[in-house]
Amino acid sequence: MNKQELIDILSSNANNEWLFSRANQVRKENVGDEIHLRGLIEFSNICKCQCKYCGLRSANNQIERYRMSKEEILSYVKNAVNLGYRTIVLQSGEDNYYDTDKMCEIIKEIKKHDIALTLGIGEKSYEEYNAYKDAGADRYLLRIETTDKNLYEEMHPNAKFENRIRCLEDLKTIGYEVGTGCLVGLPNQTIDSLAEDILFFKKIDADMIGIGPFIPHAQTPLKEASIGDFWLALKVMALTRINLPTINIPATTAMETIHNNGRIIALNSGANVVMPNVSDIDCRKKYEIYPNKAGTTEDAKIYRTELETKLLSIGRTISNDKGFRKKF
Ligand code: 5AD
Repeated sequence: MNKQELIDILSSNANNEWLFSRANQVRKENVGDEIHLRGLIEFSNICKCQCKYCGLRSANNQIERYRMSKEEILSYVKNAVNLGYRTIVLQSGEDNYYDTDKMCEIIKEIKKHDIALTLGIGEKSYEEYNAYKDAGADRYLLRIETTDKNLYEEMHPNAKFENRIRCLEDLKTIGYEVGTGCLVGLPNQTIDSLAEDILFFKKIDADMIGIGPFIPHAQTPLKEASIGDFWLALKVMALTRINLPTINIPATTAMETIHNNGRIIALNSGANVVMPNVSDIDCRKKYEIYPNKAGTTEDAKIYRTELETKLLSIGRTISNDKGFRKKF
């Protein structure tokens, strides 16, 4: 679709049903009915950044910070592998405590299991990304958040839009499967820029795209801002599926957080991935990027069984492979 077509669809709710069912059909034809589960470990909530929307921003001194040891991380990995996970996602704030050597050691240990490993640890240098890849990391998540440069720099004090782009290009060059994505509903974000976001995903040939509504957090400068619209976020996701048919798209936690059936609706509108948290419940609560985050109370084992039953009820099964992007 060209930019004007994207804008037209995003601006009106008249064809939503067509859009969601078309995205569901494109999902079925290109990536099938299997859902890929990614076991998520949020291993540190310490962050040097000041992203205005995020509860982990360094200026927030009202949250309890934590950092997991290598041993702790590896025990969650082992548990997840025993539950059948074939991908582990290691996510954290931008925490310099884990220098290149520490990260590579953790990566090598995890990769002793027969699983794919995804990292989401922020902006790093080419050399660092390269070292993680050599150590065995397969994929990297780094959302662009918004392609509107002015809005990007307004939302991210001390950060440069060009560096974000540089990171994504480096990750592609090094050979990662690259995941990016955007927030929907940031203050002053336009429909025009959301259309640009989708075109950007296509331009950089993203392998995975995560899209979620913005949810205001009380300990951030955006505490008074309005919450992102679930249906608009879902439309951006559905359009992403239609325009990038073979990629992996998660039903994001933010969607489940603001709509009580958000995950299932997303899985029926283009998504094919779920990322359950596999670490301890008290850490999950402290990883408060936004309030009332879904999935912070369920035990990993019980959750997996319940999820499987729910997925079967909508005609979907859990994949047993590592869930790389389908290449034709
Ligand atoms: N609401 C919704 N999503 C958020 N993220 C960070 N803060 C918020 C918020 N307040 C998202 C960002 C980031 C991802 C890990 O979480 O898009 O890339």
